[in-house]
Amino acid sequence: MSDNRKIWMNGELVCYKDAKIHVLTHALHYSTAIFEGIRCYNTKKGPAIFRLPEHIDRLFKSAKMYSMQIPYSKNQISNAIIKTIKANLLNECYIRPIAYYGHGEMGLTPKNDINVSIACWGWRIGETSAGNVTGAKCKISSWIKIDPRSQPMKAKAASNYANAALARIEALNDGCDEAILLNHQGKITEGSAEHIFIVKDGCMYTPPLTAGIFNGITRDSIMKMIKLDGENVLEVDLDREDLYVADEVFMVGTAAEVKSVTEIDHIKIGDGEPGMITRKLQNKFKDVTTGNDKRFSSWLLYI
Ligand SMILES: Cc1ncc(COP(=O)(O)O)c(C=O)c1O
Repeated sequence: MSDNRKIWMNGELVCYKDAKIHVLTHALHYSTAIFEGIRCYNTKKGPAIFRLPEHIDRLFKSAKMYSMQIPYSKNQISNAIIKTIKANLLNECYIRPIAYYGHGEMGLTPKNDINVSIACWGWRIGETSAGNVTGAKCKISSWIKIDPRSQPMKAKAASNYANAALARIEALNDGCDEAILLNHQGKITEGSAEHIFIVKDGCMYTPPLTAGIFNGITRDSIMKMIKLDGENVLEVDLDREDLYVADEVFMVGTAAEVKSVTEIDHIKIGDGEPGMITRKLQNKFKDVTTGNDKRFSSWLLYI
């Protein structure tokens, strides 16, 4: 069977099987890579990328935090993303741009050799495992979220994800779907790759950026949507116990979209079923990402 998939590597589209890097790549040994996770949705007006400028800005900010000079402009990266989606004939996909220190003389000091790749793969709306249809089961991880004093946690950097992967593995081994990490103060931070919200007595709450969480684009979108609908969402530090006794818990992220959490540490949240407010938000988010809610049409870039 022929494989027509293409990956953009340093300015060129190459065949999927040829998109290789050297084993002595600095990023492979020392995690010096920064990346993004972006979605393209299928809408009535054709494929549209969700909040592309915000993702590109974040990519460049992550690079800056690692003293990485991306050898392309923001415009060039945006155009390369569009080109890669089109070359792969995708309407609905996940997009993964990555910039990383390449190979040269081996050693911890990175050389000024920045490589950029863009891959994308088909991903339909609502296509994540637990949490969309049924509720996800979560585990409070025994792994503490890396403190932002140790490394820049506002960068979407590969080095942050060993911590997240350890938490995810532990959760899966315990029969759960996802992990929730506490910070060094014992406050709730986020999931391994999504932000967390709770609903209590009709109001919504989510941990503040000062809890050491990632600056999420879906989190920002959801908060703007909630506020525009005249509802309340407060950024406050949350304790583990606040989650157990919440009426509803949900998680949001580019990959996760809006996913319901119905169990934490084997304790049922509310009645153990996805809550009404979460369900409503799932539908509203779907309307926004597929262009049916005109109030947020500026968040979609039709390609
Ligand atoms: C640690 C972490 N939290 C939250 C998120 C969700 O952020 P976003 O909505 O920008 O995808 C991600 C995904 O990038 C993440 O890696």
